[in-house]
Amino acid sequence: MNLFNVYPLYNVTPVKAEGAYVWDENNTKYLDLYGGHGVISIGHTHPDYVENISKQLNKIGFYSNSVQNPLQIELAQKLGDLSGCENYNLFLCNSGAEANENALKLASFNTGKSRIISFKNSFHGRTSAAVAVTDNKNIKAPINLQQQVTFLPLNDIERIIHELGKNDVAAVIIEGIQGVGGLDEGTTDFFKQLREICTEKGVLLILDEIQSGYGRSGHFFAFQYHNIQPDIITIAKGMANGFPIGGVLISDEIDAKFGMLGTTFGGNHLACIAAITVLDIIKKENILSNVNEVYHYFLKEINGISKVIKIKGKGLMLGVEFDFEVGELRKKLIFDKHIFTGGSQNKKLLRILPPLTINKGHIDIFLTALKEILA
Ligand SMILES: Cc1ncc(COP(=O)(O)O)c(C=O)c1O
Repeated sequence: MNLFNVYPLYNVTPVKAEGAYVWDENNTKYLDLYGGHGVISIGHTHPDYVENISKQLNKIGFYSNSVQNPLQIELAQKLGDLSGCENYNLFLCNSGAEANENALKLASFNTGKSRIISFKNSFHGRTSAAVAVTDNKNIKAPINLQQQVTFLPLNDIERIIHELGKNDVAAVIIEGIQGVGGLDEGTTDFFKQLREICTEKGVLLILDEIQSGYGRSGHFFAFQYHNIQPDIITIAKGMANGFPIGGVLISDEIDAKFGMLGTTFGGNHLACIAAITVLDIIKKENILSNVNEVYHYFLKEINGISKVIKIKGKGLMLGVEFDFEVGELRKKLIFDKHIFTGGSQNKKLLRILPPLTINKGHIDIFLTALKEILA
């Protein structure tokens, strides 16, 4: 049997990883400034992570959601404490798309409505409702076109007010900082007015923090830059450092009912221990202050590179915009300089999503390589 060929692959085969580095089968070492799509939060193969998952595997790896699992409660408590979102309830699932799918379903259950407002250039995943609210027609099949979704530009509050005035909207879904779309984001004014109008109209505000959350922006959640409280927050990527997991944080004003949501694998013992370990390490190693320190260093040091037009994003969720398409540059970074970076829908943008544990020395390596290639 062959693999279903949906991914254009770089010809690199990582076989080992540690901290901010991965090695291929020829023992070539690569600096990982992409974290496998923004997934690696605490660094590859962190010793506590390896130890805790191994120990858990020797005890119990999985049982279904029909019995008690104290690890889920520990995870919810630690997540509430560290994120400052104590007044939410947690539903655990397996991926970002599934988190958004459940968030949208909850909003529809809760309001009895079905239209969703989403944004130009948004990405929310590939399952039915998640892909329907994603602004990319190339990844939607005819079956995905049945949902009622309206795409609006970011930062245009008048259009939002107009659409919410029709009283048929269940939710507005917005990324804390757009990831795949190219690192654009709402202004603080926009987020605040959006929060107000959603409250006034009884529309739920869903913050997709799947990429921008878990400390990546320098706050635990990117929306915390704007001093607002969403009704629902979705999380995944950095949550368990590569172990598949997703979550929906649900305001305690939204009532749960037995059977309303569910999953076989979500919240299993191994996923929970991986996610608990990530939170413990973020706290113990003060990872948020590292993100901010490295971010400010990056901003200062990249200043001198003339071909860079703009830096987008925050913390270690960064986009470096050039006045040319970056496809060739990314290839040179990987194959000549052995540095992984990412691309986005904006072809002129290099996406930087490293492990949140990287240091200034890693930034120096990247900037030296960039200068050499651009010269
Ligand atoms: C903002 C955002 N939401 C949702 C998703 C979907 O997550 P997953 O690939 O885990 O389904 C992604 C993935 O890139 C994302 O960046």
